[in-house]
Amino acid sequence: MSKKNKTAKLTIGTTGQELELPILSGTQGPDAIDVTSLYKEAGVFTYDPGFMSTASCDSGITYIDGDKGILRYRGYDIAELAKGSTFVEVCYLLLNGKLPNKKEFNEFNRTITEHTLVHEQIHFMYRGFPRRAHPMAILSGAFASLSAFYHDSLDINDPAQRDLSAFRMIAKVPTLAAMAYKYSIGQPAVYPRNDLSFSENFLHMMFAVPAEEYKVDPVLAKAMDQIFILHADHEQNASTSTVRLAGSSQANPFTCISAGIASLWGPAHGGANEAVINMLEEIGDVKNIPEFIKRAQDKNDPFRLMGFGHRVYKNYDPRAAVLKDTCSKVLKALGQINDPLLKIAKELEKIALNDDYFVKRKLYPNVDFYSGIIYKAMGIPTSMYTPLFALARTVGWVAQWREMMEDPAQRIGRPRQLYVGEKPRKYTPLSKRK
Ligand code: SDX
Repeated sequence: MSKKNKTAKLTIGTTGQELELPILSGTQGPDAIDVTSLYKEAGVFTYDPGFMSTASCDSGITYIDGDKGILRYRGYDIAELAKGSTFVEVCYLLLNGKLPNKKEFNEFNRTITEHTLVHEQIHFMYRGFPRRAHPMAILSGAFASLSAFYHDSLDINDPAQRDLSAFRMIAKVPTLAAMAYKYSIGQPAVYPRNDLSFSENFLHMMFAVPAEEYKVDPVLAKAMDQIFILHADHEQNASTSTVRLAGSSQANPFTCISAGIASLWGPAHGGANEAVINMLEEIGDVKNIPEFIKRAQDKNDPFRLMGFGHRVYKNYDPRAAVLKDTCSKVLKALGQINDPLLKIAKELEKIALNDDYFVKRKLYPNVDFYSGIIYKAMGIPTSMYTPLFALARTVGWVAQWREMMEDPAQRIGRPRQLYVGEKPRKYTPLSKRK
């Protein structure tokens, strides 16, 4: 980050005070006006409830250009990584800022593999949940409970313990997610295996049963790995900002990531992938699409086109473009290319992208629009879609959390407010109130 020799001039209308605020420049993207001293110098706050124009931090992990539909992890384009990399390699990249050489990759891959088991007591903890519990309810609780088991990786001021907690969280989240699924269908948990890759292991833990050998389909494993890459990080989205704010109080990493899982669960955020499938099933047939397009534009109707629109992308979400292609490939490989939901999704996208309401508001399909169709074709239940998002995003949350903890200027996040409540008034004892 550099301080350009430019400043922003601000005149406070109420007092006539004139201020010059420094302008900060990153390596790419918009400059930022540094308002850190504004309240101290002028006694006023900035006001930006949805953070439409606010940079909460500086970060070198992910770059998004919403107008051009660009997404890069540590400078590498998402489509190139999705095509040529693996999720474990992308984990190394996000955490360390560079691609690993062969030795570094093998060491990192071995470390992650050796941390996939969870403490046996956690299996007993799952039995305390009702079988019908939403897997996200189990995952957020189980993830926070990791801080009850792994006391040797809670000291956030010890770099070695920060690394150990990072490896544990990335490695154990697939195990916890698959355990939540198995628990919900009354099947025994399947333990991770060290002879399988990250994504093969996840599919094995999801679909293997003790009664027979389960062969992982390489097409599905590759598609799963690619989907994890696409969901790994996304700058300062709601759940990542939640993790950063929780971490700024120096809470332990397991509970900070659990806070991120909670935020991701919302249908406006990571819960949208589950909502997209529910929406496509509600539409039911391409002939009903016009009615739903109309409802999405009706301010009196809470219905929104799920999987459409984005705070940052005012162009096609580059992840959705990759997923659309993967979707067709996976359905073709599974002999489901005529899946009615895919047909409705493609027709819905075509109509919406030519409808003035969506065009004017620059509403395009986002990462959640096609992912659910792939999951459904793979036999994954809708309740597991957001847990899969959380599984992949854990590395992004961890990388962002570590970047913040390693920043010597790091301090607790404590936003202010515009107070619109009552003016001072005297207390009246109950006996005197009418
Ligand atoms: C993710 O931030 C991230 O990076 C998130 C994410 C990540 O990787 O972490 O990319 C993952 O969360 C993707 C988004 C998943 N959510 C959905 O698909 C839910 C449906 N989308 C909308 O809820 C909405 O688009 C948001 C929440 C995604 C963005 O909301 P904003 O930026 O606050 O935009 P807005 O609500 O102010 O909408 C602007 C206008 C409004 O109309 P007007 O008031 O101008 O008339 O667009 C309309 C909105 O009503 N609008 C939609 C719409 N999304 C916005 N209208 C119909 N359907 C939609 N989906």
